[in-house]
Amino acid sequence: VEDGYDLWLRYRPIAAQATPQYAGRATSVVAESTSPTIAAAASELRRGIGGMLQVTPAADLRDGAILIGTPASSALIRQMRLPLRRLGNEGYLLRSATLRGSRITVVAANGETGVLYGSFALLRRMQMQQSIDSLDISETPALKLRMLNHWDNLDGFIERGYSGKSIWNWQQLPTVDARVIDYARANASVGINATVLNNVNANAQILTEPYLLKVKALAGAFRPYGIKVYLSARFSSPIDLGHLKTADPLDPEVRAWWKAKADEIYRLIPDFGGFLVKANSEGQPGPQGYGRNHADGANMMADAVKPHGGLIFWRAFVYAMGPDQDRIRAAYDEFKPLDGKFRDNVIVQVKNGPLDFQPREPFSPLFGAMPKTKLALETQVTREYLGQSTGIAYLGPMWSEVLRSRTARPRPTSDVASTIVAIAGVSNVGNDRNWTGTLFDQANWYAHGRLAWNLHADPAAVANEWTRLTWGNAPQAITLITSLMMGSREATVDYMTPFGLTHLMGTSHHHGPAPWVADLGTPSWNPAYFHKADATGIGFDRTTAGSNAADQYAPEIARTFADLDKVPDEYLLWFHHVPWSHRMRSGDTLWNALVARYDLGVAKVGAMQAQWSALSGTIDPVRHAQVAADLRAQQQEAQWWRDASIAYWQSLNHLPLPEGHPLPA
Ligand code: GCU
Repeated sequence: VEDGYDLWLRYRPIAAQATPQYAGRATSVVAESTSPTIAAAASELRRGIGGMLQVTPAADLRDGAILIGTPASSALIRQMRLPLRRLGNEGYLLRSATLRGSRITVVAANGETGVLYGSFALLRRMQMQQSIDSLDISETPALKLRMLNHWDNLDGFIERGYSGKSIWNWQQLPTVDARVIDYARANASVGINATVLNNVNANAQILTEPYLLKVKALAGAFRPYGIKVYLSARFSSPIDLGHLKTADPLDPEVRAWWKAKADEIYRLIPDFGGFLVKANSEGQPGPQGYGRNHADGANMMADAVKPHGGLIFWRAFVYAMGPDQDRIRAAYDEFKPLDGKFRDNVIVQVKNGPLDFQPREPFSPLFGAMPKTKLALETQVTREYLGQSTGIAYLGPMWSEVLRSRTARPRPTSDVASTIVAIAGVSNVGNDRNWTGTLFDQANWYAHGRLAWNLHADPAAVANEWTRLTWGNAPQAITLITSLMMGSREATVDYMTPFGLTHLMGTSHHHGPAPWVADLGTPSWNPAYFHKADATGIGFDRTTAGSNAADQYAPEIARTFADLDKVPDEYLLWFHHVPWSHRMRSGDTLWNALVARYDLGVAKVGAMQAQWSALSGTIDPVRHAQVAADLRAQQQEAQWWRDASIAYWQSLNHLPLPEGHPLPA
C-alpha cells in the first residue's frame, strides 16, 4: 500500500523503455572504505538502484560502475586527482569519467558526509529520470548549520505537533528502532545535519544520566548520516536537578555546574552539538531572574561547551514588554543593544518574523541589525498557524520570501539570507505512518532542507523536484501539483489574514478564526490587540504616530513600510490603521477589497480541489483519495475563516456585503 512511509525516497521501479538512458549504467557500486558513512551511502545507492532498475548492482569496477569515496579513504579516487579543493567538508562532486578503461560515475568529496550527500543527489537525478551521463556537477551547502528543532516532550507528546507522538521512544531507548534510521536517511537526503531532540520548553530531566545515555544512542545512530545531536536545556537546570539554590549565570557554582554537565555530556557524546535555550520567554526561567541579561546567560553556557567545540543557540523569541510597548517590538528592543556582547560560539536564533510564525509577517528587523552577532533563522515547518494538518500549505514560497527580503543593512544590498549562519526549522515529524500528518506536509520537511542547502533555490523548482520524487514523473501531474503547491500558502493568507492582519487564531490551540477575542489576561495574546478594528477602521499603527515599530528597520525599508503610499498591500494593516473606506491601489475601498480577498482565498482552495481531481487515475487511488479528503477539509476551513471574519468585521462596521460576494451557504 502507498502509505507515505517512504517519503521522497520511494525508489519505485521505472520502466526500462521510459529510461533507456540507464541501460548499462549503475551496474555496480564501488566503495573502498567500510566506514559507517560510506557504508550508508553505498547501501542507499544499492537500495535505490535495486528499487528503480530492479537489478542488484555488483561491487567491482566495471563499465557503468558508480565509484564513491574520498581521496583519504579511496586509492581509486585519489588517483583521479579530482577538483575537490573548493568543496569543503560537505560538498560533493558528481562526475562521469573513464577509469582503467571503464566508463564510470564518480561520487567524490573531501568528507564522507559529502559522499553521502552526493549519493542522494545521484539517486535524485535517477528518480527524476534525468540522464546520468556526462555529469560534472559540484555542490556545496550555503550554510554549515541546517537544523531541525523538535518540540518533543519527554512524555511523548509534541508541542504543536500534528502528526502523532514523538518518534523518540524514550522507554525503549537506548535501543534504537529502525524508524530512527529512516529519519536520519530522510534528513541526510536533503542535507539536514543537526537536530535538537527536545522541546524548547525544556524538561530539565533531559540532562540526567539515564536520558543522556538514550541521547547518546540516538547520536550514535545519526552519526553515520552526518547529523549532530543538540538538546534544549532548561536554564534553571542547576536548581531543578537538585544541586544548587540559584541559576545566576555569574555565580561561580552555577558556572561550574554547567561546565561539569558539559564535560559529562561530551564524555558520552564527543561530537555533541550544544544547547538550544528558550530563556525569559513565556514563563521559562532565564538570566533576567537574577538581574542579568541574555548575553550573561548565553555566554555562561557558551563557556561551558567551548572547550568541546559546542554551540549555544539562544532564542530571541521574547516579549516580556512594558504595558505600552508593541509586542512585535520586544525582541529587537531587547536584543539589538546586546549586539557584540555574545561569545563567538553563541548563535542568536531569531524567528522569521517579529511576531510568531504567522501566515505572513515582514521579516524580523533583527536580521541585519546585529552585525557583530551570529544569527540563525528559525522557521516553523509544523503548521501551527497555517491550518495545522488541514489541507495543503507548501511553505517553500514563504521561507524564500523571508530569505530574499532585503534588509538593506549591514550593506545596502544585504538580504536576510546574507545575515545568517544557520537555519533551524521547528519539525513537523511525528510517529504517524506518513511522518508528517498529511502527505503534502512531507514537502515542507523536504523544502526546509533544500532551502537550507541552497538559500536562493527557487521554491517552485523545489516543489517540482519533490513532486517528481513523491508523485512520479507524469508531466501533467508535475505541472498541476507544482502549481497547486505554489499557490497554497498564499491561499491560506488570503482566507485567514489578508493585507497584513495577524494573530487572529483561536486562543491557545491556534486553529480557526477568533478575531473577536479581547479579554485574555495577557493583552498581547488577544486578536483584538493585533487588529484594532472598530466601527471606523482596522489595523495596527506602527508608524511614528503609533508604536513606531517600522523604525526598527533600516531607514530605507522603514520609510517604505511607514508610508501609506508605498507599503505593499500585504503589510498594509501590519503597519497602518486605516478607515474601512481607505482606497486601495486597485481603487476599491479596503472593505470591499478585504471581502474580495477572503473570497479569493476560498476560490483558490476550490481551484486546488479541481486541480487535484484532474489527477484521479494518474495517481494511486489510496494517496489520491487521502489528499482529496484533506482538500475538502481545507475548503470548509477556508469558508469558516471567511464567513466568521467577515461577520465579525460587519458586527463592528455595519457595512453591507459588497456586490458579488456570495452569501454564506
Ligand atoms: C509559539 C507556540 C508555543 C511555543 C512558542 C516558542 O508561541 O505557540 O507553543 O512554545 O511559540 O516558540 O517558544
